[in-house]
Amino acid sequence: MAGAPTQKKKFRSQEWFDNPDNPGMTALYLERYLNYGLTRAELMSGKPLIGIAQTGSDLSPCNRHHLELAKRVREGIVSMGGIPFEFPCHPIQETGKRPTAALDRNLAYLGLVEVLYGYPLDGVVLTIGCDKTTPALLMAAATVNIPAIALSVGPMLNGWHKGKRTGSGTIVWESRQRLSAGEIGYDEFMDIVASSAPSTGYCNTMGTATTMNSLAEALGMQLPGSAAIPAPYRERGQIAYETGKRIVDMVHEDLKPSDVMTRQAFENAIVVNSAIGGSTNAPIHLNAIARHLGVPLDNDDWQTVGLKVPLLVNLQPSGEYLGEDYHHAGGVPAVVAELMKAGLLPHPDAMTVNGKTIGANCSAAVNENLDVIRTVAEPLKANAGFINLRGNLFDSAIMKTSGISPEFRERYLSNPNDPEAFEGNAMVFDGPEDYHARIDDPAQGIDEHTILFMRGAGPIGYPGGAEVVNMQPPAHLIKKGIHALACIGDGRQSGTSGSPSILNASPEAAIGGGLALLKSGDRVRIDLRKGTADILVTDDEITRRRAELQDNGGYRYPEHQTPWQEIQRGMVDQFSEGMVLKPAVKYQDVAHT
Ligand code: FES
Ligand code: MG
Repeated sequence: MAGAPTQKKKFRSQEWFDNPDNPGMTALYLERYLNYGLTRAELMSGKPLIGIAQTGSDLSPCNRHHLELAKRVREGIVSMGGIPFEFPCHPIQETGKRPTAALDRNLAYLGLVEVLYGYPLDGVVLTIGCDKTTPALLMAAATVNIPAIALSVGPMLNGWHKGKRTGSGTIVWESRQRLSAGEIGYDEFMDIVASSAPSTGYCNTMGTATTMNSLAEALGMQLPGSAAIPAPYRERGQIAYETGKRIVDMVHEDLKPSDVMTRQAFENAIVVNSAIGGSTNAPIHLNAIARHLGVPLDNDDWQTVGLKVPLLVNLQPSGEYLGEDYHHAGGVPAVVAELMKAGLLPHPDAMTVNGKTIGANCSAAVNENLDVIRTVAEPLKANAGFINLRGNLFDSAIMKTSGISPEFRERYLSNPNDPEAFEGNAMVFDGPEDYHARIDDPAQGIDEHTILFMRGAGPIGYPGGAEVVNMQPPAHLIKKGIHALACIGDGRQSGTSGSPSILNASPEAAIGGGLALLKSGDRVRIDLRKGTADILVTDDEITRRRAELQDNGGYRYPEHQTPWQEIQRGMVDQFSEGMVLKPAVKYQDVAHT
């Protein structure tokens, strides 16, 4: 009301720093934050205290530029009357962490939940980037539910080798085949791969990093246009400053993750994921964030909401271009604008962190390059989403059918009476080591109609879930020009690989899923139209094999190597359920409990 005296809002941080009822605790909470130069007047002033959850470090080079960007975030926070507190997150480096970076997503999540809950923070800037950092931080913000805004570190510059774009990750898959075929040597292989990483930033392809950063924006958790700006560009520093400014206002407005990441926002993100050609890791991570918010979301939703959406973004591995091109074409706002023109964005009125709706933010965005971001009328591919398969092999597994190549269609899907179904004999591998040991052995009898299976690669089997389902064919087939065999497994696939695999099968073999009952040589049938995947044996035979597996003590997987592997294996859920820690899901809105 105009002219009325405004009651100054007391923030959560003042429970620590300004509590006259308990001077002893207040003094203890306060004094150590003074020892590097903060003043008592500042900390007791009632200004909002803003965390900067720092994921950059020497161990996580994709996000390392956040160490620099945080300076601009701090300036933005201070300029709006906030007090910044930067703190480290558990590092997660996708390509450097053994046995797999996915093991650490839930560990980083747990760590950040404790920090956000247990320290005097009124809001937080989430510094996202490399694959698992984005979901880990969004999951923690979801659980704690204090005002939060995400800031991408941005992709690397485009890679180049001999005048051609080399995309991170994708170039490894391509060049490994050339190395196997004897077309290039070891040194050239290394040089080509290194050319794909020419600057600071995350993968410049549409892998899991570009996917998850784009989806963080589509969910409404980043400022519009923020996701695609390459890490070294000046606009990256500028948006870091704007992000710091905006979080202070969000704290005053009490705009929380649960106000932004609604069911509507997730449906928007699923549609954007299809349009950008997003990674098959996205359903795992978005389902996890949703579970921590209490928003219902499952793999059937991904098919229902996302399957029929066309592919618009022409980035490797499905297309030609890389991150700089995506940014110059207009990034996420231009993609959303194209979807809106065709009426394909389901919820233009979903709220975003800038206090406006996604529709208001994006409807006037200009698509600056119609080859990089296509229109819905002239897409790269139709039906770019995922199908959710089920049968006696698993209850849920996803496949990106738009990745099916003409060669693959010819070899597996050529029956005119049954054009969307195929059968083949199974070749089963128990984990990546078994695959590497046997794939090139001629005695295995792998031919161009074989279906390769990878099991023991799920959240419990591996542990954390290995990105190993997209298996390269044996060298003798590659030399004959066979570049991909059908692959199915309970592990994941790198978002930078374009293989048409059936992934994330849940429940995994390690907990007795149907894959544990499969034997090499079994006939398997996949029907893409019906959404089924089955071993073609009798129910009696399935029952007999299950009893045999139980008598043998169940499916065996490697020993734990670290305490966290054992702890997580004891409480982690399956990929279809977001691979969350089951006991964590019931803790929601913890800052307000
Ligand atoms: Fe970090 Fe790809 S390895 S973003
Ligand atoms: Mg990956």
